[in-house]
Amino acid sequence: MVLVSAPGKVILFGEHAVVYGKPSLAGAIDKRTHVNLEARDDDIISIESDAAPQRLSFSLDDLVSVEGFPYVRKAIELAFERIGKKSGLDIKISSDFPPASGLGSSASVSIATILAVHEVLESEIPYGTLAKLGHKVEFEVQGAASPTDTAIATFGGILFIEPGKDEHKRIDVQLPLIVGCTGIERSTKVLVENVRVLRENSPEIVDSTIESIEKITRMAKEKIEKGEDIGDLMNMNHGLLMALGVSNFKLDILVYAARDAGARGAKLTGAGGGGCIIAYAPDKGAQVKGAIENCGCSAFESAITSVGVRVE
Ligand code: PMV
Repeated sequence: MVLVSAPGKVILFGEHAVVYGKPSLAGAIDKRTHVNLEARDDDIISIESDAAPQRLSFSLDDLVSVEGFPYVRKAIELAFERIGKKSGLDIKISSDFPPASGLGSSASVSIATILAVHEVLESEIPYGTLAKLGHKVEFEVQGAASPTDTAIATFGGILFIEPGKDEHKRIDVQLPLIVGCTGIERSTKVLVENVRVLRENSPEIVDSTIESIEKITRMAKEKIEKGEDIGDLMNMNHGLLMALGVSNFKLDILVYAARDAGARGAKLTGAGGGGCIIAYAPDKGAQVKGAIENCGCSAFESAITSVGVRVE
């Protein structure tokens, strides 16, 4: 039996601009997905999760064709393929954070599952290969995916991600954040498409907005490395995301509630349209968390963690 966990993520700066080749800064949160995996003597795979009402049980031969748990099944399939060996498995999944909220639950479950399968089948996988295989899982399940979530779930810490580059610059600092969740599920694909249409209709304005987000992201990287305040940059980044049309009433309420309660900066994180906000409030964490909860939403304090995927 093996227990593997991997962290969720927040995008600190640069979401949407990264789709147009600009850099982004993302960080691992100290909320994790836990995968408990055990080999079986027969050819049955059984998957259960806190987030799903029902357990899924099927034969090894049906791994690709059965419905349900697409990320977990694809992660198992690619792991078996790489190892060159198969086995019946019992898998139990639990997560410290909600799915479909932009906190990287699919990436963390994919990465943890691939590593857990390697562990029970006594095969080694370098972390670089693990991150790439996890990205392949997301790509094949979703049809498109940036390597951000799977890189963070593997390596932890803060990563400065430049599209097209295989290596990501890692920044190891503690960054206290409050994450506030609207509880609204959204589709990253739809929001990315909305920005594409806006850009088609107003190319000059959208392109200059994206360039401004790029400048903010690069400046934020320098400030984080020096331990300087990033509050203003977060606020400006949120304003630009509003201009791209990906914020909404609930996200803006949480952003302003956080700022009113003393956050030095607050912005939506990820695709927008729902999901979560992040607030930077080194000295007012409890007040900001309370203000978000007073809006009827859930919130938690989270440091950025340097701990990526690990066998517990
Ligand atoms: O939905 P999330 O939190 O995984 O964020 C998506 C971020 C985008 O920049 C909008 C898309 C991407 O693939 O980077």
